[in-house]
Amino acid sequence: MDFYKLVNKRYSVRGYLSKHVEDEKIDYILKVARLAPSAANRQPWKIYIIKDKTVKTALCEAYPRSWLEEAPIIVVFVGLTDNNWIRNDGKDYLLCDVTIIADYFILAATEQGLGTCYIAAFDEAKVKEALNLPENEIPLLMTPLGYPKDGAIRERKRKELGEIVVTI
Ligand SMILES: Cc1cc2nc3c(=O)[nH]c(=O)nc-3n(C[C@H](O)[C@H](O)[C@H](O)COP(=O)(O)O)c2cc1C
Repeated sequence: MDFYKLVNKRYSVRGYLSKHVEDEKIDYILKVARLAPSAANRQPWKIYIIKDKTVKTALCEAYPRSWLEEAPIIVVFVGLTDNNWIRNDGKDYLLCDVTIIADYFILAATEQGLGTCYIAAFDEAKVKEALNLPENEIPLLMTPLGYPKDGAIRERKRKELGEIVVTI
């Protein structure tokens, strides 16, 4: 699939089938995500793949949405706060790094016909508790992972290029 087609195929999927996600697909997606670049190559991240019903229920308490409950898998992208690159003016690139690996993961999942939705608006303390995260692991993004229900798409609105591109 060419890159434009792949990017255009991805959308925030807010409706999932209970259909099983094949392990081979998860392995492929993780193989892609592993190649994500990071500042100073610190790779300050972990990816939690949650299939366990009890842990999923606890995660859904951190972001209560029926479509999140529907998904057979929830993925949490965690940043390692003891290995993040900080610029010499103090700018922290942890969120940037974790966003990149999440992007790679999500686009690979899209290529495999799976649905995802970036989620940031969760209760961080509840996610930490659900995953029993140590002090140095901070959850930054999560996504459901599963086969999309038909009709889960929403209208796509984007700014025109003229509004966002500055050529000097
Ligand atoms: C960093 C980030 C955080 C987001 N957090 C949430 C969220 O908490 N809940 C949600 O329903 N959608 C969330 N979204 C999805 C956006 O609303 C969505 O990407 C945007 O409206 C564009 O729609 P599209 O993904 O279908 O192209 C998030 C997206 C990004 C990139």
